[in-house]
Amino acid sequence: SKIEPMKVMISGAPASGKGTQCEMIVQKFGLVHISTGDLLRAEVSAGTDIGNKAKEYMNAGCLVPDEVVTAMVTARLSQEDAKEKGWLLDGYPRSFSQAQSLGKLNIRPDIYIVLDVPDEILIDRCVGRRLDPVTGKIYHIKNFPPETDEIKARLITRPDDTEQKVKSRLQIYKQNAEAILSTYKDILNKVDGNRSKELIFQDVDSLLSQVQKEKVKTTKVA
Ligand code: AP5
Repeated sequence: SKIEPMKVMISGAPASGKGTQCEMIVQKFGLVHISTGDLLRAEVSAGTDIGNKAKEYMNAGCLVPDEVVTAMVTARLSQEDAKEKGWLLDGYPRSFSQAQSLGKLNIRPDIYIVLDVPDEILIDRCVGRRLDPVTGKIYHIKNFPPETDEIKARLITRPDDTEQKVKSRLQIYKQNAEAILSTYKDILNKVDGNRSKELIFQDVDSLLSQVQKEKVKTTKVA
């Protein structure tokens, strides 16, 4: 019988490195990366209904209303590629009610990874973050500068990456984190995110490899 694809959730404060680790996870495990932040930013730049509803909340560093985000995520999760290759959900659920929405649909990950990074590091990571609108790649002015002057010239800053807005995003994260963690306690794995991205990935990689091994084992037994 066929091995069931992996279902992974990655969480952590703003700028804890979720997107950066997801790039590496996708490269190795081929999961479909579903980032609600990326999906919403794409809706905003395309000027869709969803984008127009989401824009002000995002620019202010607040959460977009649950019903907007939940409909978007569940539609994406039910697409063929996600069912076929497995998924990597990044930035969702972000509130207890979002976690409940997934529960009602019987959507549960195999593992819940939280990247742990001290507050003072997060501010600097956000303020220094730059995005390449062409490739979608994430840079940082000090930590990960762009490879060429051509890339450097086109990098953009997110409107919610000012020090003030990062502080309020962090506060919202902390208000919600506990309730979400309780939903996934039995599959929770904290990873120290205040190290080089390669060292962090070593831990993430071994956690996911373990999950994959378990799936192979249970498939053989069944
Ligand atoms: P979202 O895009 O999800 O933002 P976030 O959770 O605040 O996370 P970030 O994208 O800021 O950071 P990250 O953890 O991916 O870090 P990254 O790898 O980029 O959401 C944005 C907004 O959308 C929300 O505020 C909300 O309005 C809305 N939204 C999204 N989901 C929603 C939901 N479910 N419900 C309601 N609203 C929702 O790294 C950050 C920086 O650090 C980069 O510059 C990177 O190069 C650098 N860096 C990464 N790793 C390292 C390392 N190990 N060492 C040094 N530097 C590093």
